Parts: sequence; structure tokens; C-alpha cells
Amino acid sequence: LHSTITLNNGVKMPRFGLGVWKTDNHTSRDSVATAIRNGYLGIDTARQYGNEQGTGAGIKLGLEQSGLKRSDLFVTTKLYNGEQGDYDQVSRAFENQLKDLGLDYVDLYLMHWPVDKTYLESYHAMERLYREGKIRAIGVSNFDNDRMKNLLDEAEIVPAVNQMEFNPTNQEHEILEFDRSHKIEMTAWSPLGGGASLTNPVIETLAKKYGRSTAQIILRWEWQRNIITVVKSTHGKRIIQNSQIFNFSLSAEDVQQINKLDQGKRALWYDDFQWHNPKGAFANSIAQWS
Ligand code: A2P
Repeated sequence: LHSTITLNNGVKMPRFGLGVWKTDNHTSRDSVATAIRNGYLGIDTARQYGNEQGTGAGIKLGLEQSGLKRSDLFVTTKLYNGEQGDYDQVSRAFENQLKDLGLDYVDLYLMHWPVDKTYLESYHAMERLYREGKIRAIGVSNFDNDRMKNLLDEAEIVPAVNQMEFNPTNQEHEILEFDRSHKIEMTAWSPLGGGASLTNPVIETLAKKYGRSTAQIILRWEWQRNIITVVKSTHGKRIIQNSQIFNFSLSAEDVQQINKLDQGKRALWYDDFQWHNPKGAFANSIAQWS
């Protein structure tokens, strides 16, 4: 649970953490504190989730209850699409996030989505914030290879992380390969396919074989694939269960079996939202967000 990956700037990031998407302030405070009490060191939130205050309160409570220090944790948050822009804009957004989180630095600051009109300018602003010292690493989220290439052409600092939807039915092979060739680590959001992968028959068969839950099988598979994982649960028992993946391992054949479940498309959204549909709502939304 405390195992780390060394990012391309030398900073160590826990390979496993809690995500709090679709969780209100009150619930995220409880989930975060429960996770920290039970050994989670990675916490992942975003402006867009509307729960940075609750997440911050959960961090404070979790640290008090566990006796850990702020520096033991690795806190990620993300720049909101609607707050992208020049340095003044992004720096104001970031300071408000720090205030809501009740922190004086974050470990990782990600650009949440590549909004076409502003992502290059916003990334430069993030580079400057990073140099100013309140962010230990910067990265991006939901970047396909075309946008990542554009970013790398312009960037002075290679993003440390690209956080993508990654789960048994959406394995993003091309993005993973490209990012790894540039020392950009992949973090999985919705590692359980938003819950959909939990009832996959192949995963269910493996769960019986190993005597584990389907969630544990999937999370262990992600671990063995060297993907950083942030998994969401709002239930204490599941938060604990999800972290108990270190006393068994999947055989190489079983890892392969899960690899074969890839359908090359997002688990959560409709066809419209697939990367490779240039006219789809997903492509439109990142082109037109303002
Ligand atoms: P809940 O918060 O009610 O526990 P993903 O991370 O892929 O988006 O999936 C998150 C979903 O999976 C959430 O709806 C969460 O529900 C559910 N979930 C997380 N862990 C488990 C688990 N161990 N067993 C069953 N459902 C889980």
C-alpha cells in the first residue's frame, strides 16, 4: 500500500490511492479520513468535483486520527476547465484550491481536460506555479496522443502523469505506450469501470478462483500492470477491502486473460464520447469549453 513510483522529476508517488469523484463534501471528508486511517497515502480530488473543502477536512481529520504527517501523504488536485487561461487566472484558481483544501502545497496538480483553446497557455501557467514551489509535480488528465504531442512540443516540463480512464474494458494501449516512452506515468481513473467491471463474468470466475472480491481482482491486475490507481468508494468496508491486494498475486496467464477483455472504448460513456469519434460529443466538449 505504501509502494511508490518515482516520477520523471524524482518525486515519489504512491501507486495506490483514494478518489472522490461524485462525492459531496460531507461524504468525502469521511471517506478520506477512513482511507488515511487505514493506510492510504494517495488522495485524488479536483475542483470539478466540488468537494475540495470536504477532502481537506478529511485530510486534517485523517492525519489527527492516524498520527501521520502531511508529508506522508500525496495529495492530487486538478485545474478546472472553466478556470484555464493565463498565469494570473490559473494562479488565482490554484490559490483558491489550496485555501479550500486547507493546505500550503499540493503534491500533484493536473490539468483536468485538454480544453483546445487554452491547454497550452494553461500548462505554461502550471509550469510557472510549479517553479514557484507550491506544487511538487505537474501533469495532465484525459490527454490523447495528438494533444500530448502538441503539449510536448511546447512544454518545458514533461508532465509527470497522464490520468486516464483505465479499466479492463478500456486499456488505452496506444496512450499508455506513448506516455511511457516519454516517462509519463499513467494513473487510472474509474479503475473498476465505474463499477461495471465488477460483474464481468471473467472477473467473477477469477474472483472465485483466488477467493477475493471482483474489485480486488481488478485492482490487483492494475497493480501488476504498473498503473497508478485511484479508486473510489464511499463505504468504509470497501475502502478497506480495496486496499487488501498485497497478499496474493495473479498468475501471468490470468493477467493476460484480463488484458484480453479490452474493448478499446470508454466504459462509462456512450459512443459519442469515444476518443476516436472526432464529431462526437466528447471531442466537441473539449473543443468548445470556454
Ligand atoms: P461505492 O462508493 O458505493 O462503494 P470506479 O472507481 O471505477 O469509478 O468505480 C467506483 C464505483 O465502484 C463506485 O460506484 C463504488 O461505489 C463502487 N465500488 C468501489 N469499490 C467497491 C467494492 N469493493 N465493491 C463493490 N463496489 C465498489
